[in-house]
Amino acid sequence: MFDDGAPRFDERILDLELPILGICYGHQLLALISGGKVERARSKEYGTTVATIDKPVGVLKSLDRQEKVWMSHGDDVVSISEGFEVLAHTDNSSYAAFRHKSRPVYGLQWHPEVIHTSNGIQMLRNFVFDVCGCEAGWRAEDFVERSVLQIRQAIGPGKAIVGASGGIDSTVTAVLSAKAIGDNLTAVFVDHGLMREGERNSVTTALRKLGVNLVVVDAAKTFLEKLRGVVDPELKRKIVGEEFVRAFERVAEESGAEYLLQGTIYPDRIESGIRRHSDKIKTHHNVAGLPIEIKFRAIVEPLKDLYKDEVRKVAQSLGLSRDIVWRQPFPGPGLAVRVIGEVTQEKIDIVRLTDRIVTEEIERCGLSGSLWQYFSVLTDTKSTGVKGDSRAYGYTVAIRAVESKEAMTAMFARIPYDVLERISTRITNEVPKVVRVVYDVTHKPPSTIEWE
Ligand code: XMP
Repeated sequence: MFDDGAPRFDERILDLELPILGICYGHQLLALISGGKVERARSKEYGTTVATIDKPVGVLKSLDRQEKVWMSHGDDVVSISEGFEVLAHTDNSSYAAFRHKSRPVYGLQWHPEVIHTSNGIQMLRNFVFDVCGCEAGWRAEDFVERSVLQIRQAIGPGKAIVGASGGIDSTVTAVLSAKAIGDNLTAVFVDHGLMREGERNSVTTALRKLGVNLVVVDAAKTFLEKLRGVVDPELKRKIVGEEFVRAFERVAEESGAEYLLQGTIYPDRIESGIRRHSDKIKTHHNVAGLPIEIKFRAIVEPLKDLYKDEVRKVAQSLGLSRDIVWRQPFPGPGLAVRVIGEVTQEKIDIVRLTDRIVTEEIERCGLSGSLWQYFSVLTDTKSTGVKGDSRAYGYTVAIRAVESKEAMTAMFARIPYDVLERISTRITNEVPKVVRVVYDVTHKPPSTIEWE
């Protein structure tokens, strides 16, 4: 807010009489531009806070007097203009929520969109349905119909390839595209050697069962060579993204395809920094990790405006199996971003083994359905242990398990200790080079789901 070039909005927006919901920075800007005051906060509010709802109306309709909300701000609204009224406060913020007295304009200092705000979804529903008067009319069937037409229009009589990883996003893209252009589509599965155990087999079998015309590219050696010596996560992503596209180009040349279809979804674009003022968190390789020079006439991304839960609805309406619909998301760069630091064959083998153990134990205890992701990370910390009667100096493996709805925010999962104990015992017994297992107890934000 006080930095040079800090974004503002055109104040004439306030005269449009359209519903407005300012969140966090937007809340402060609304206050400032409408004649209130914002100052650097004496004490920053960061994390979960209790807000007292003084007036449960509009966006705050039906909420309790005390609500758990997630704050993340260093500036504070210290006064609002006459036309506004305060709706909620916290110990540190007297104007934690406000609204215009006669127009549908609201400001919330906290983040209703993160999972840590207990009734955040209710607040957003109140805004969308009550304040804006919208109706919930989105249907997966309509989306399928529309996107098949759009893909057909974009590609015409041309040929296309689709990158297929076996994940839900790329599988849905492949099935929609096959519906749209039939035999003119080739799906390409690039085996970069960074897959989980048994993945290549299960993915290629599933894709072939769906009737998708599939080509498998063996590229494990090339990927490992390109990644040698690389420790920076963003560089790993760029390298993997680049190698994917080069592999796609080779298949495209052979099949005469001019178009590339990708399963990019909306959060990939946000986190890769598509919006001018959204910070780049990570370069999801199917977005900004693409090399500038791509030998395709166009890239088509039919799911680019959908969140994961919507993709799942589309998958269900396409009749895809439960396994595909509920498959854990797996990052495009695969195990390369689950080995902290340099990627070597030895480390990939270790993290693949520990990943299998985590998966088996989480599935065995029946928790898999309630978790967004569960996996292991091979950290670059070595530590001392004792195995048998002797000192062992080996790797530290971290276990990550989170609950989430769309990966934009997540909570670490409260896995029972006995399950964690089984995972830890199995890993240290079955993977000789690992001497220590730790459990990650950080939410997103402030952390991210993947470690890199
Ligand atoms: P983060 O770690 O950013 O992850 O909280 C959010 C979701 O995105 C997945 N992820 C990726 N997916 N390419 C992908 O296709 C990537 O580079 C990448 N990095 C993270 C992650 O597994 C989680 O579901």
